[in-house]
Amino acid sequence: MAKPDFFDEIKEGLKAQALVSPDTYVSPEVLREFYADIVKPPPVPPAGPRPAVPPGGSARPGVQSVRQTPPAPAPNMRSSSAAPAGKSPREMTWDELANAVAACHGCKLCRTRTNTVFGDGDPKARLMFLGEAPGADEDRQGLPFVGRAGELLTRMICAMQFNRAEVFIANTVKCRPPNNRNPEPDETEACRPFIMRQISLIRPQVIVMLGAVPLRLLFPDVKEGITRTRGHWMDYHGIKVMPTFHPAYLLRNPAAKADVWKDLQQVMAVFGKKHVPSPRRR
Ligand code: URA
Repeated sequence: MAKPDFFDEIKEGLKAQALVSPDTYVSPEVLREFYADIVKPPPVPPAGPRPAVPPGGSARPGVQSVRQTPPAPAPNMRSSSAAPAGKSPREMTWDELANAVAACHGCKLCRTRTNTVFGDGDPKARLMFLGEAPGADEDRQGLPFVGRAGELLTRMICAMQFNRAEVFIANTVKCRPPNNRNPEPDETEACRPFIMRQISLIRPQVIVMLGAVPLRLLFPDVKEGITRTRGHWMDYHGIKVMPTFHPAYLLRNPAAKADVWKDLQQVMAVFGKKHVPSPRRR
């Protein structure tokens, strides 16, 4: 049977939610999605030159101006044998960085990993997704978001009228924490220089932060959690950042897909993309 797409999932989530709590408030915007027929997104045109960041950039109304202090200096990585000796991640090229990640023994996760997970997609992507840490499937394959949460992320990306090859998907931490626990502070700190360098080399127009772990990493001074920050633009060194729920959370709480869909539509708008509901139901 064909897999439901992201819009079907939103509808199913809302139906389920309405059964358990009939008086749940559903905004008109979500209701429109709920009743709208699904119009398949048009095929994505081949990647062209990057448009300039929209005028006003992160100073647009609605953008929460959370400016970050410059990234912390790289901690000592005990072994990055494939990287040029003495070079900090801040100075590395993309390939050097990939080699440094593959050879990293900077924290205890190196002892239990099968593969490091550098990231996947277009190193020149305009849109980047930042997750938490690899799980069992990702550890096995060395690729991010290839398990169940990854399937959902792929459908979210398609619903946004992008495909996986034209965005970049990375994790805050490059090695799997045992038993899928959350990465510990020393682990995120050890990996911080890698993700910082990836962000500065890619220099995407927008980063979608998936869940609380990337929120803590990029915005350590923000006290609110993901539930409060989601849907509100943030600014990371001039890059627009949209925090939203992690796909694994959506697998457990399908009703939250409607919120995530609202967040993703804000991101789509930055790229001039718009979900068009069926004319019949509009
Ligand atoms: N969850 C994540 O945060 N990242 C992955 O790569 C897979 C699941």
